[in-house]
Amino acid sequence: MNSNVVLEAKDIYKSFTDGKSTVDVIKGLSLQVHQGEFVSIVGSSGSGKSTLLHILGGLDRPSQGIVNLNGQRFDSLGEAERGFLRNQNLGFVYQFHHLLPEFTALENVAMPLMLRKDAEFKKVKERAEYLLNRVGLSHRLTHKPGELSGGERQRVALARALVTQPKLMLADEPTGNLDRKTAMTIFELLRDLRHELNMAMLIVTHDEQLAKSADKVLHMQDGVWVTEKT
Ligand SMILES: Nc1ncnc2c1ncn2[C@@H]1O[C@H](COP(=O)(O)OP(=O)(O)O)[C@@H](O)[C@H]1O
Ligand SMILES: [Mg+2]
Repeated sequence: MNSNVVLEAKDIYKSFTDGKSTVDVIKGLSLQVHQGEFVSIVGSSGSGKSTLLHILGGLDRPSQGIVNLNGQRFDSLGEAERGFLRNQNLGFVYQFHHLLPEFTALENVAMPLMLRKDAEFKKVKERAEYLLNRVGLSHRLTHKPGELSGGERQRVALARALVTQPKLMLADEPTGNLDRKTAMTIFELLRDLRHELNMAMLIVTHDEQLAKSADKVLHMQDGVWVTEKT
């Protein structure tokens, strides 16, 4: 694999079977994301974007095909090793923030680092505070998710995804649940942080402005790539 490829997927298929019926959701998709590159995936609801993103992030297994993250194949690893590979290389952002309600913003952001065996509490706290400050939330460190606005929660989720300095951020409609103005702030933060941290981003989005600012836009329809219709 070319050394500046962060993520490579080859000929991915995914089917779901429940009892009698089988649904073929991903039907032979390949892609590469290079260091520092921003790739967006657009496609109508139900086309298989979230399913693909889960497979690319090693959260689900493909029915067929290979996913290689930073030189390691997910299918060659056990569950713990997969978790380690994700923690070392990936940051995840979802449409709904998925923050832990009983923890503060600071604790939520620190979590991915605290999960590491060699975590040093003081350094982790400093790093989490830095990221929260960076997304403009230094005045909300001890607030719990329920005490934050939608945009603030998404900024906390962004800080959490970036606290480990991932090589690649995977985001599933990160602005999908926000009003236009708030979406713009998230959009600008993503752009600035990508350059600052020199990370690659793979973002599933309906947000045309966000999609178009990518280095590469992939259009998905019924589990395959299509060329954009005009
Ligand atoms: N766990 C599952 N079991 C069965 N079908 C699923 C499962 N997950 C997703 N699907 C189906 O796969 C299709 C694509 O879903 P999804 O990846 O969520 O699409 P998108 O994110 O593009 O809206 C949908 O028809 C959905 O019902
Ligand atoms: Mg989806």
